[in-house]
Amino acid sequence: MSASSGPAPGPVAVVGAGLVGLGWVVVWTRAGHPVRVVDTDQAALDRAGETIAALWSDVETRPVPDTVTLTTDLAAAVSDVVHVQECVVEDATVKAEVFAAIAAAAPATAVIASSTSALVPSSFTASVPGRERTLVAHPFNPPHLHTAVELVPAPWTGAEAMAATRHLLEDAGMEPIELAAEIDGFVVNRLQSALIHEAFRLVGSGVVDATDVDRAVRGALAPRWLTLGVMETIDLNAPGGIEDYVQRYGPMYARLAREQREPVDWQQVLDAGLAADRAAVLPREDLDARRRWRDGRLAALRRFLDGGSATS
Ligand SMILES: NC(=O)c1ccc[n+]([C@@H]2O[C@H](COP(=O)([O-])OP(=O)(O)OC[C@H]3O[C@@H](n4cnc5c(N)ncnc54)[C@H](O)[C@@H]3O)[C@@H](O)[C@H]2O)c1
Repeated sequence: MSASSGPAPGPVAVVGAGLVGLGWVVVWTRAGHPVRVVDTDQAALDRAGETIAALWSDVETRPVPDTVTLTTDLAAAVSDVVHVQECVVEDATVKAEVFAAIAAAAPATAVIASSTSALVPSSFTASVPGRERTLVAHPFNPPHLHTAVELVPAPWTGAEAMAATRHLLEDAGMEPIELAAEIDGFVVNRLQSALIHEAFRLVGSGVVDATDVDRAVRGALAPRWLTLGVMETIDLNAPGGIEDYVQRYGPMYARLAREQREPVDWQQVLDAGLAADRAAVLPREDLDARRRWRDGRLAALRRFLDGGSATS
């Protein structure tokens, strides 16, 4: 994963020591980058070492290298980095201030990337000096257990900044999804939105219950999508490939799409029984334990997909 030849990976700064920021620390550290972690809250930094060690143990058996430093001094932390990954609260005003402070102190060559889940980059980078080196690099939670990361340019983001970030992420074992332009929801949430919406429609209409919706995803869609994705799945699912698939099944999907156009009232579906059904299957006080179970399963899957490299 880390570059075994060529120059040593340059320092990276992670600004915001919450869950997402500390996941990024694991990603960059595994790739051999010295990492400077910055937070305005000393208590968050005091907790960070323990959390990083716990996340690290999901993917590595060796101890955390001593290349991670923790500080409240943003300007010093970013002064010689090749990349800054902003992971502060999801607020465009705060992000604009943090980007301005980073831009004032980081080398002009460093890319400044935001982890934002739902803000388009133009909403907080318009006034940043050197804004052509700003973009969104949106990870999935927790970042050290997912390879996907969405690279989203603002209208003023330079091709060099996109390419440099893509290379840095690929060297760190990530698989960037590069958007040509910013769009609300980026790619993953737009895909997810279509599927969750249809799940609510089916449950709300009483055709199927929530447990069986999850069975449909886990037992039919997810295994193929994990192996191939959506487009390659359909390319293989008709004898003559994707053109044959479109000929055979296009009319059916067009019919379904017309039926699926109306938005569904999610709250109404919750109130009509979905909330009670979920609480019966998973009591609300068990949510945290189940989240830890999920992360353990994701870590095991990651190790399997990496060919067992994390445990060997
Ligand atoms: N939680 C998710 O599932 C998820 C997934 C992908 C991306 N994201 C995005 O990542 C970002 C961080 O999310 P999180 O869940 O880790 O949040 P969080 O609240 O856990 O952590 C935010 C951290 O930023 C620090 N902070 C706030 N202002 C700061 C500043 N001016 N300078 C330095 N540090 C500052 C806070 O003290 C806190 O430690 C958000 O933009 C979020 O949308 C979240």
